[in-house]
Amino acid sequence: MHHLVPAPVRTHIPAPPHTDDQGPNGFLLGPSTTISAQPGTETTERWLRATVGAAYGLPLAPGPADAERAGHTVRLRLDPALEPEGYRLRTGPGLGVEITGGSPAGVFWGAQTLRQLLGPEAFRSAPVGPGGPSALPVAEIEDSPRFPWRGLMLDVSRHFLPKDDVLRYLDLLAAHKLNVFHFHLTDDQGWRVEIRRHPRLTEAGAWRARTKYGHRASDLWDETPHGGYYTQDDIREIVAYAAARHIQVVPEIDIPGHSQAAISAYPELGNTDVIDTSTLPVWDNWGVSPNVLAPTDTVLRFYEGVFEEILDLFPADTSPFIHVGGDECPKDQWKESATAQARIAELGLADEKELQSWFIRHFDSWLSARGRRLIGWDEILEGGLAEGAAVSSWRGYAGGVAAAEAGHDVVMCPEQQVYLDHRQHGGTDEPMPIGYVRTLEDVYRFEPVPPGLSDAAVRHILGTQANVWTEVMQNRARVDYQVFPRLAAFAEVAWSRLPAPAERDFAGFERRMASHYARLDALGVGYRPPGGPLPGQLRPGVLGRPIEGTPPNV
Ligand code: ACM
Repeated sequence: MHHLVPAPVRTHIPAPPHTDDQGPNGFLLGPSTTISAQPGTETTERWLRATVGAAYGLPLAPGPADAERAGHTVRLRLDPALEPEGYRLRTGPGLGVEITGGSPAGVFWGAQTLRQLLGPEAFRSAPVGPGGPSALPVAEIEDSPRFPWRGLMLDVSRHFLPKDDVLRYLDLLAAHKLNVFHFHLTDDQGWRVEIRRHPRLTEAGAWRARTKYGHRASDLWDETPHGGYYTQDDIREIVAYAAARHIQVVPEIDIPGHSQAAISAYPELGNTDVIDTSTLPVWDNWGVSPNVLAPTDTVLRFYEGVFEEILDLFPADTSPFIHVGGDECPKDQWKESATAQARIAELGLADEKELQSWFIRHFDSWLSARGRRLIGWDEILEGGLAEGAAVSSWRGYAGGVAAAEAGHDVVMCPEQQVYLDHRQHGGTDEPMPIGYVRTLEDVYRFEPVPPGLSDAAVRHILGTQANVWTEVMQNRARVDYQVFPRLAAFAEVAWSRLPAPAERDFAGFERRMASHYARLDALGVGYRPPGGPLPGQLRPGVLGRPIEGTPPNV
């Protein structure tokens, strides 16, 4: 009988709970290695060939799984008795490699572990040496995730990230066993998805004349026009690329606030009886714009058209959730607008807060009728939420706790803990630093399920995501710096069943990080080095936001 023991010091991130590593010489990956993929596991077969095969210059051709060849075969199998995203990985002499998953996704996560077993060179795109076989240890690993929602939100509005960079981030998510990509596609500073029936959203709304360089306190400007957008085929490609990696994409179209880019493109979407929206630009500064959507039938019909195209681009099987934003909608224009006030009266609403709620509920019913689930930032709780809607809890835990206790599904992403735009060190060298100091260790000690929740509410915590707002991230290098290495710690929080925050073995995690940095180097990730930024990562003289005082893990 095989005894599975907890791993003492292994190098995996996120850490599997049970590993039995009996040392080297389990299996040699070489020119004669073949893959035997059971029907249903083809995504992993293709992925192994494209990544590990390319890294070692090996064909990893399809082959049978007969006993004679067992020691030269990577076998991919399904076993519904395992947890859906769980897997078992075994390697040994005469055994080859066997990855058994509870579902195709489980097999895929097992393949991620296989790549980590192989060593950092498995993360390159072509062989760096003369090649030759690569050894795997004799090992047995059983693993499954703590949460079904393990996400990253990427803001491509504040700074546009070209399509190839988005695809690369999907690869980076997969390498960390993260399975949700929340795609923040619209905001005051730019509209990033082509909508055929409203072409000006991208013709005009995707571009701004200039950009604040640094955070709001900075007096620097980048006078280069900035923007870009994804065509509908770009989006389909991104969605298919994610699906091949068992990642669901959650598109976000932010309403009724954070909409200045849309209003700039179509002035009739704004509160035209309060301001002249015909000259409103796509916003060039950061913060919360007062220019919000008008609560009119014109606006509802316009956005139904937008969401119709969004539902077509993001099919139900891989995008069951549609995010409608709902955060930070200033009510000043609605207070002044005769049109908005007439709507409040006509609907018998108490105030502008209820008007926002009416707006969100309209799209909640609209999405539900089309078989999708609405998700929004925790402001959507104010004024009551329709059954089935889910909440991204960003203003701390409180919104998520209230929503979960009320029976709504929740994704925990409190800004005090997992907003990766916030600085990761308190020193003066941090480039364009903003807000809280949240170190690698702080993220490692982040706990998505706060104490005191009822058992029923705990079951409504779908999981957690890290959010990446890109006001001070002008390009992929800045995104890499802010996201890594903290996303590695976050991935372990989301996947592994870690003890309570104070009891987590951060020293052990750091030891494993030594191996993980080598993987990130091989992948070409521009992370923040443990000793602080490299010269090219510094941004001297660019003002950010002062340090905020709240301690982490509150
Ligand atoms: C948010 O950070 N406004 C969701």
